[in-house]
Amino acid sequence: MQTSGVRSPAIPFIVGLVRATRKLPLIGQAPAEKRLSASARAGEPFWQTLLEMKTDNNRRFFGLFGLDESMVDGKTVLDLGCGYGGNVLAWADRHPSASFVGLEPFPHVMNIAERAGISFGTKNTRFVTGLGETLPFGDNTFDLIVTWDVIEHVRDPMRVMQEITRCLKAGGVSLGVFPPYHNPTAHHLGYATRLPFLHLVFSPDVLVAAVNRLIEAGEVDLSRQPAPQCGPWGRKTLPSLNGTTGADWNELTRQLKSRYAVAVRNTYVPFGERFAVLRIFNRIMLRLFRDSDLFCGQIRTVLHKEG
Ligand SMILES: C[S@@+](CC[C@H](N)C(=O)[O-])C[C@H]1O[C@@H](n2cnc3c(N)ncnc32)[C@H](O)[C@@H]1O
Repeated sequence: MQTSGVRSPAIPFIVGLVRATRKLPLIGQAPAEKRLSASARAGEPFWQTLLEMKTDNNRRFFGLFGLDESMVDGKTVLDLGCGYGGNVLAWADRHPSASFVGLEPFPHVMNIAERAGISFGTKNTRFVTGLGETLPFGDNTFDLIVTWDVIEHVRDPMRVMQEITRCLKAGGVSLGVFPPYHNPTAHHLGYATRLPFLHLVFSPDVLVAAVNRLIEAGEVDLSRQPAPQCGPWGRKTLPSLNGTTGADWNELTRQLKSRYAVAVRNTYVPFGERFAVLRIFNRIMLRLFRDSDLFCGQIRTVLHKEG
C-alpha cells in the first residue's frame, strides 16, 4: 500500500466516520448517478456529456438569476469551463439563433464534447481548448459569458475575471455560480462522503491522506489524490480547488470594480436552499453574520461591462 507520509490519529478517525456514514442519505456518498465510473458507462462514447445534460442544470441556470433562458437568442455565448459540453449543447439545441463556444482546459474532454456535438447534429456550437486565465479570444467577443461551478477550480480567479471582462462586448454580461470554500460541503469530497464541515475541522493534508486510504482500499472509485498545494489566497487547499471564500470574493470584486468599468452584484444564497427550515435559518444567519460562508450554499455573481 502506498502512503502519503502524513501521519495523524485523525486519519483513521475520518476513514471510520466516512465508512460508518457512507450509506446515509444527504451526508453519505453521493448517489450513483453523480459518481458514475467509465466502466459503468462502457459502450456509450458520450456518457459524460449525456450525464451533464440529464442533471438538467442547464434548464435551471438562468432562472437562478431571475432571468429567462431566451436571453441568449441571437447572442454570442461563452460557456467557460464547460466540462463535457452537456449544458452548452442543450442550450444550443433550444436556441438555434444563438452561437455558443464551450471552453475547457483538457483536450481529451473537449474532444468528447466536440464529437458529442457532431453526433447530436449541433451546428451552432464550437469547442475550444484553453484556460480561463488566458482566454484565446479577441477583446469584445461575447455578449454573455457563463461560469457554472468553475470559479472555485481555476488557478487564478482574479485573472479569469479580468479575462472575462476583456472578452465581453461593451454592455455584455457574465453570470457565475460557485460555492465559497468555507461552505459546509465545498470540500467536493462527494465521491467519498458529503459529511459537512470536514474541511473546516481537518487540514487538507489529513483529509487527502484519509481519502487516499479509502481509494487504496478500493472503497472509492478514483485515482489517488495529489498532495494539497497553496492556492491563490496563500492557504493550502484541497486538490482541484483554489479555496476562494466569500470574503476573498468580496475583495476580488471590489478590486475588479475599482480597475474596470464594470458593475458586479453578488448574491449569497442560503445553504440548503431546497429545505425550507434550513433555508430560512441560513437566510437569517447570512444577515446576522454578514454573508458568512458557513451559511451560504453558493455565490451568484452578475457582472455588467459598461457600454
Ligand atoms: C465542476 S466542473 C463544471 C463543469 C460544467 N460547467 C458544469 O456545470 O457541468 C468545473 C470545470 O471547470 C474546468 N476548469 C478548471 N480550471 C479551469 C480553468 N483554469 N479555465 C477553464 N476551465 C477550468 C474543469 O476542467 C471542469 O470542467
